[in-house]
Amino acid sequence: MTASITTDPAQAARVLARGGVVGLPTETVYGLAAHAERPDAVRRIFAIKGRPAGHPLIVHGADAGVLDRYAAAVTDQVRRLGDAFWPGPLTLVVPRSSRVPDEVTGGRATVGLRVPDHRLTLRVLALLDAGVAAPSANLFGRTSPTAAAHVRHDLGDAIDLILDGGTCAVGVESTILDMSVPDPVILRTGGVEAEQIEAVLGRAVARSAAGPARAPGMLEVHYAPTARVVLADGDHISTTIAMLPPRAQPVVVIAPPNIAAAGAALVLRTAGPRAEDFAHDLYLLLREADGAGAATIVVVPPVGGGIAIAVRDRLRRAAAAGATDPPEAGA
Ligand code: TXA
Ligand code: MG
Repeated sequence: MTASITTDPAQAARVLARGGVVGLPTETVYGLAAHAERPDAVRRIFAIKGRPAGHPLIVHGADAGVLDRYAAAVTDQVRRLGDAFWPGPLTLVVPRSSRVPDEVTGGRATVGLRVPDHRLTLRVLALLDAGVAAPSANLFGRTSPTAAAHVRHDLGDAIDLILDGGTCAVGVESTILDMSVPDPVILRTGGVEAEQIEAVLGRAVARSAAGPARAPGMLEVHYAPTARVVLADGDHISTTIAMLPPRAQPVVVIAPPNIAAAGAALVLRTAGPRAEDFAHDLYLLLREADGAGAATIVVVPPVGGGIAIAVRDRLRRAAAAGATDPPEAGA
């Protein structure tokens, strides 16, 4: 039976309280949530997603009290980061407290914590009076969902309920900062920039070279639609399309409004020219391109810093996923 969709946070809280699994909106992407202190419920997340056990989940809380409940020791620096960026798209990896089951962290001594910036989900968390463990609500390795309909499409038959909070404001997953090591390191780029973190900490933070062992979300095969993804320079997009072999057709282009694109079966535009628009629309448009029957999705990535860095990171990984298929001539 397909999960029903509600806009009532109290209903979502009730289902979570009795060990159910619920699709919840956040400002980044939809999460697949279970009560963080119920190992049975958390195990269901792994079964539903097809996610390998041992890949750690982020615990989401209603406010910075999530640190007191789920972190073993809270440093001043961690407290300051929470004060500065929560609710918001920053996940802090910290030593875990005994309230966090092994199922959540894959047996690690650390846990990822964040306070999501979404009115309905903050209400759910307040009513539940506990944290929820939640990965992105997609099948393992696929594109993250940024609308309730995406969650239903991917997982609707396997979960108990979906809370519809509209499309996600940010559109790409949170920045993950490892604060459990002497020198903080960014494990995943996202809506909070390295420079903003450095301004709060008053020190430099390292950017991790993608390390699958450290952060499974950094696997190269992540964030992939079904079609092959090819990245193109805005000035040479028509050449990129012309060079694709016949079996790469039909080609769907994803580009900002100001980029000319000839030779594609379909051109999907981000709502505006800013990198924020691109982030908001990225997963929506990748799914739309898949739905339109694209064999190849040619994307013109946003340039510059800020959230554009996170968008380019996700696109590079989506493109690398296709590169593991048999190579295509000329592409
Ligand atoms: O924006 C987000 O972070 C979304 C929403 C739902 O909050 N969640 C999300 O979850 O993207 P997921 O499971 O798809 O990605 C979580 C990432 C994984 O790459 C995981 O390895 C990393 O967080 N992570 C979680 N706990 C960790 C830990 N203790 N140490 C290192 N990495 C951790
Ligand atoms: Mg994910």
